[in-house]
Amino acid sequence: MLAINGTQAMGDRVMRRLAELAALSEMEGGITRRYLTPAHRAANELVGGWMREAGMDVHTDAAGNIRGRYEGTDPDAPAVMFGSHLDTVADAGAYDGCLGVVSAIEAVAALHEQGVRPEHPLEVVGFADEEGTRFGVTYLGSAALAGLWEEQWFDAADPEGTSMRQAMLDFGLDPARVGEAAIPREKILHYYELHIEQGICLERAGLALGAVTCINGSKRFNIRITGETGHAGTIPVSWRRDAMLGAAEAISEMERIARAVGDSLYFTIGYIVCRPNLANCIPGEVDLRLDVRSNSREELDRAVADMHAALRAVCAKRGLEVSIEQFFQSPLMPCTPELVDRVRKAVGAVQGTVTELPSGAGHDAAEMALAWPMAMIFLRCEKGLSHCPQERVTPADAAMGVRVLLELISGY
Ligand code: HGY
Ligand code: MN
Ligand code: MN
Repeated sequence: MLAINGTQAMGDRVMRRLAELAALSEMEGGITRRYLTPAHRAANELVGGWMREAGMDVHTDAAGNIRGRYEGTDPDAPAVMFGSHLDTVADAGAYDGCLGVVSAIEAVAALHEQGVRPEHPLEVVGFADEEGTRFGVTYLGSAALAGLWEEQWFDAADPEGTSMRQAMLDFGLDPARVGEAAIPREKILHYYELHIEQGICLERAGLALGAVTCINGSKRFNIRITGETGHAGTIPVSWRRDAMLGAAEAISEMERIARAVGDSLYFTIGYIVCRPNLANCIPGEVDLRLDVRSNSREELDRAVADMHAALRAVCAKRGLEVSIEQFFQSPLMPCTPELVDRVRKAVGAVQGTVTELPSGAGHDAAEMALAWPMAMIFLRCEKGLSHCPQERVTPADAAMGVRVLLELISGY
């Protein structure tokens, strides 16, 4: 049986390692680590080394995920998997995704150092792409493990025009073999993901840890509004078919719809591209990305339908063409009740108080849930800030995160 002592040292090492990972970035003075980039390769190598030190067999799978396996006493038993993602948004924080991977390695290292082996093998995975920052397609790494990779993803291109197919080849992966990353269902028993909350509930409750009940549903759309470009100084505004003015009015209309629903609906337009994007040219074309989320399927679908109708009405009134293409959806995904009970027990053992909360953010766990029972553990992050350099976690909370994973493992 594992003696869980000196856990602050574990928390401190998690923090040191997260700082090391944070330095593996595509951008000066900040953290951006996208799929199939040199920063991704460097992160896999660094994390793979930590996995080996923790007594794991390590490999990079056909989708670019870094995978570690720690044998149990029964090699034929299905593995219990812990993971999260190593990729980031642009100018990210150091904890989103990486905390879950590094903490899981720390937990396995504690077992390895004491020569303890659970009955079930343990697997730790650092997913290669959860955010979709480079190609716009999210949950790539977990979809590959679950055997849910979609052929059309290979044609997705990054802002520089490189296709995912070409980027995989440049990275040393063979797109034709991505299916080899899929894990047979019977090989994994349960999947757990430790992740920062990216919200403010735990901090407000004065708690470090919480058990996640569900992951909100979300839908994302590419929107293209097409008008007519022209000279900014010669075409009177009343004659124009200005794609930017159409986008501005449509976005306000969609915001009005979201506010009328209330704070249970999450509406974001975080991406806009204007062409030709010059001060003295009338915008002929505008691309937007719409992200809508809710923990009610009906509310989400109704809001999306109303927003699309408002967008089309604005464009029709202004003589603009509009195309709307859904490029991502993840249904509301409840965590598996039996596993949530295990998480509640583990959190109770470490923290005393147990609280439950939904996840407004999406996670690989939502994709893994399509193949295996899953649950998530949330860790407090300062002011709930995330997807930005201000993301913060304390060493003491990091230590508690490792202890919860060790408590969970003790049940296998
Ligand atoms: O968008 C999300 O919720 C996640 O960070 N990918
Ligand atoms: Mn994220
Ligand atoms: Mn994340």
